[in-house]
Amino acid sequence: MKSFYITTPIYYVNDKPHIGHAYTSLACDMIARFKHLDGYNVKFLTGTDEHGQKIEKAAAANGVSPQEFVDEVSSSFRELAKALDLTNDDFIRTTEPRHKQAAQHLWNQLVASGNIYLGEYAGWYAIRDEAFYQEDELVNGKAPTGAEVEWVKESSYFFKLSAWEEPLLEYYAKHPEAIQPESRRNEVLRFIEGGLKDLSISRTTLKWGIPVPGDPDHVMYVWLDALTNYLSALGYPKNDYQQYWDQAVHVVGKDIIRFHSVYWPAFLMAAGLTPPKTVFAHGWWTVEGEKMSKSLGNVIDPIEMINTYGADAFRYFLLRDLSFGQDGDFSKTSFINLLNTDLANAYGNLCQRVLSFIYKNADAIIPTPAEFTEEDKALLAMPKEMLPVLRGHIDHFHLHRYAESVWQIIAEGNRYVDAQKPWSLKKEDPTRMATVLYTLADVIRQIAMLTQPILPVASSKILTILSVEKSDFTQLEVALKPGLSVSEPQPLFAKYI
Ligand code: MSP
Repeated sequence: MKSFYITTPIYYVNDKPHIGHAYTSLACDMIARFKHLDGYNVKFLTGTDEHGQKIEKAAAANGVSPQEFVDEVSSSFRELAKALDLTNDDFIRTTEPRHKQAAQHLWNQLVASGNIYLGEYAGWYAIRDEAFYQEDELVNGKAPTGAEVEWVKESSYFFKLSAWEEPLLEYYAKHPEAIQPESRRNEVLRFIEGGLKDLSISRTTLKWGIPVPGDPDHVMYVWLDALTNYLSALGYPKNDYQQYWDQAVHVVGKDIIRFHSVYWPAFLMAAGLTPPKTVFAHGWWTVEGEKMSKSLGNVIDPIEMINTYGADAFRYFLLRDLSFGQDGDFSKTSFINLLNTDLANAYGNLCQRVLSFIYKNADAIIPTPAEFTEEDKALLAMPKEMLPVLRGHIDHFHLHRYAESVWQIIAEGNRYVDAQKPWSLKKEDPTRMATVLYTLADVIRQIAMLTQPILPVASSKILTILSVEKSDFTQLEVALKPGLSVSEPQPLFAKYI
């Protein structure tokens, strides 16, 4: 079995989860679910980034210890994962011993390979970004991201990032798939070509971090600590991490591409490890045309959305509306429109009309088909023929095109119902009616399998109505069994006005 490893960024626990966090996680979940459907041995990791000055400050502002604070907020991210119906098989926290051990081991490897030296850092630091900035990078006295900066002067360990400029460029020349999409790759290449300076990788002015091995006055720079999570969850350095590591895909937001495509691969190469296979950076959501911010009070709470519309509807909109990789806007009107047209009208309608017809007019049993006509065969073959197309969408990170393609089958299914008119066949030709209903039920089964990566709840309901065994939920080839019962269908998707 082929292995596949996909990760979300680990989320800062300074605040509760919002739509941006939900989006990265959902994109990963969709890919993980499809890969599972496609026969891969999948490992899907998410978790929380719990050290650093930002968290230490947030805990102090809340009047609790950092540990109490991170325990509380981390659990809200775990709850979000459940509410979104994520299939992650691990949830890592950077405060766990397994992670600390891995991060310290990586540090030691960097020391052993001569990539770390002690010096003094004097420069700007933005707590919000947990990033160092050069004087010439500042824009009107702030970080280029708009974050406030403070002057830092302290003893610090440095990583010889400057030595990895050429190796990184060589690596990226040989591995064009390593940074996607293309525009981000160019951005990263321009940054590296502009020259890399050695990176400060430890702090002495805060305590909330992983101690530097052999020098407890220093804690590790939070990004070196955080990035290592992708390895610690695989059991690095002990377990057999290589099998997954070779296939690693990191999905991140565009704001953190530099950490993932410059610092992280440099740390890895310096420690004798291979860079991740692919880092994909997606775009950002605005809300009703505005940047999402607490002060504007327009932050979308994913839990609230799920409680109101259900996980499927929320997932569908985020994964279908926005071209993956581009920025997009969350507007209530387009959200509702999409739910009505694609879910209630197209998909819901196909399932409802066919399944309730079988339930009411065919003794609630999957009919036994007679001979299939060319039209029947064409419709039945559509999902299998679509599979390579869907695989291509996932492998190229064209996540938004996935639903577009599956919905072509749904449209064809609805056209077939209109053309075959099973309601007229009931009296005129019951044998033909049975074949038509069987064809529809089997194509609905296949569609429901293919919609699992986006709509896990509804897909599972449909497959259960059709008496498909759970173990067959991933088996496109295992045709529906005539004679099994069809349970009473309930409307799958609400319609909104
Ligand atoms: N802790 C770091 C990641 C460390 S990974 C080794 C971090 N955390 S974060 O919580 O601030 O952000 C996590 C993800 O949420 C990022 O990928 C970021 O791009 C994404 N988003 C935050 N706001 C967003 C939007 N408005 N829209 C889409 N995604 C956004 O960075």
